[in-house]
Amino acid sequence: MVAKKQINLLRGWPNPALLASSAIQTAAAKALSDPQVSTPGLLYGPDPGYQPLRESISRWLSDYYRNPSLGPAEASHNGTGGNGDEDDGDRICITGGASQNLACLLQVFTDPLYTRVWMVAPCYFLACRIFEDAGLRTRAVGEGAEGVDLEALEKGLEECEREANAEKKVGVKLPKPWSKIYRHVIYAVPAFSNPSGRTMALSCRRSLVQLARKYDALIITDDVYDFLHWPTSSPSSQHLTRAILPRLVDIDRTLEPVPGKEDFGNAVSNGTFSKIAGPGVRTGWAEATPKLIYGLSQCGSSRSGGAPSQLTATIINSLLQSGDLEEHIEKVLKPAFTRRYNLMMSAITRNLTPLGVKVEEGKVEGKDIFGGYFIWLELPEKVNAEIVSERCRERENLVVAPGDLFEVHGDESIKFQNSLRLCFAWEEEGDLEEGVKRLARVVKDVMEGKGGEIGGGRMKASKQDLGEFR
Ligand SMILES: Cc1ncc(COP(=O)(O)O)c(C=O)c1O
Repeated sequence: MVAKKQINLLRGWPNPALLASSAIQTAAAKALSDPQVSTPGLLYGPDPGYQPLRESISRWLSDYYRNPSLGPAEASHNGTGGNGDEDDGDRICITGGASQNLACLLQVFTDPLYTRVWMVAPCYFLACRIFEDAGLRTRAVGEGAEGVDLEALEKGLEECEREANAEKKVGVKLPKPWSKIYRHVIYAVPAFSNPSGRTMALSCRRSLVQLARKYDALIITDDVYDFLHWPTSSPSSQHLTRAILPRLVDIDRTLEPVPGKEDFGNAVSNGTFSKIAGPGVRTGWAEATPKLIYGLSQCGSSRSGGAPSQLTATIINSLLQSGDLEEHIEKVLKPAFTRRYNLMMSAITRNLTPLGVKVEEGKVEGKDIFGGYFIWLELPEKVNAEIVSERCRERENLVVAPGDLFEVHGDESIKFQNSLRLCFAWEEEGDLEEGVKRLARVVKDVMEGKGGEIGGGRMKASKQDLGEFR
């Protein structure tokens, strides 16, 4: 019997056809052929990163997040510049991407003995190790109906506060003039989350910022899917060329009392070119108050050698300035993701819905909008996702991610035993429907008692082994 071709709906990578290869080739040739650009690109750079790119990103983001449908406060963006008059990019730091920068943020702004971390669950599982490496303990807080279960979070923050005061907790790190050690970190992926695909409501975003201010928390958001969204109904009636919602960092910047020049603020946004140009560029940005951004740039690894990705930063700058990146997003990525999402959703409706598998409709603030890379499925109550994913591998050569992968390491109080994550970004478009059909066969078998035990399979993917899947 000929083995079935593998279909991998776990891997969270962009399909090679979605990489901005030719635009990057043009941008690289331009950057490398001009010594005024290539020389600084090949030397050590400034701590906060390549200045022209800081300014380009700042302009690009102020335009993208200036959306007339936002609340009046958040929409009145006047550039991302710290004082609102001149946009010199002082709210932006160039990074080696969202993952690398999460590690740097933790190095500068947390202390393993003093800081507690709250991860919105289900969580981006590869962030767990970054918190562990920084010596930090993580606790889970559910998404609730709006994106974060604010009630549970506040209860947890209060409990922590009481314990910390009773134990008179102090940190191990010595104070540094450029940094501040926060009592808490709240980590979330507010838009088109990896893994749940959900988007945090605007009212929840505002309340979360208020909570962070009250409890001395730094909200770190991976805003990595903000540029990838599309209407899920009547495509021609909506042009989603701007952000739909302000980021937490925008709210922190504009919600009274706004942070002053000497304030670190309570939110930082982690952006990346991984999802819109190609993950191999390993370049991203952080946005926060100028004070926090300066502190971040003083991270030891940036002080010695300058911000990461200096040469790539010159190339990305050329990509942004030429307008080629925006064109790639609008003309290649969004149409492709719309098609991919629709293909997978109709396959789900045809093959899985009749079995009782549930999937949430893509909605943002009541509008028919979806984005990102992932669809989150709820299996019928008695169907265990780990068994399903094992049998998918053995019987159908299909790789899917079981929900337990996205439980917060060290705090499995919030479980996802009946959930599965499917990625529609990696496999060829033509294989998405076949992948869902294979999954449906396995779900049906398991429902009929033909699934066997957990661990009965040849191979069980462990959380630790799945780095390549993101
Ligand atoms: C939520 C989230 N954060 C971070 C990353 C990785 O970003 P980067 O490639 O910039 O490190 C991913 C990639 O899947 C992601 O989904």
